[in-house]
Amino acid sequence: MIDIAKLTELAVAYDAGDPRRVQHLMKVYAFCRIIGQGEALDAQTQNILEAAAILHDIGIHEAEHKHGSSAGKWQELEGPAVAAPLLEQVGADPAACERILWLIAHHHTYTASEDRDFRILLEADFLVNAYEDALPPDACQTADEKVFRTRTGRMLLQKLYLAPPYQP
Ligand SMILES: [Fe+2]
Repeated sequence: MIDIAKLTELAVAYDAGDPRRVQHLMKVYAFCRIIGQGEALDAQTQNILEAAAILHDIGIHEAEHKHGSSAGKWQELEGPAVAAPLLEQVGADPAACERILWLIAHHHTYTASEDRDFRILLEADFLVNAYEDALPPDACQTADEKVFRTRTGRMLLQKLYLAPPYQP
């Protein structure tokens, strides 16, 4: 099993000086953890999902340096090469490593797979981006119909963004 705390320290060190990225990865990690538990993933898949959550956007700095853009396709392209040595440092086994690198390389491609770890990563990233990017309710409604698959992820989406807005 991958030591998630150790991996998080490495990811935070890599993203040093960029608290926005660290806040983002911590939130996506938390949502992945809750959704994975809600969907009763086996321990191995849960561990892979959590590691992928920590590393999913790790290609952003390289994307910005090499391509002048953090667009999804550049992140997907650059992420695996940055993530691989971090996974090696925490002793991830080759099969886990391969799966995590695949998840990183596809996390902006909504049609890439129906596997549950992949769908949960997409859902968690959307739940965080919807808030960070202040997405309008109709974008969340569309995601509810087209992107989300899990009961737990959809419950979170509906409670956070599709419920009547809280009024103090
Ligand atoms: Fe993200």
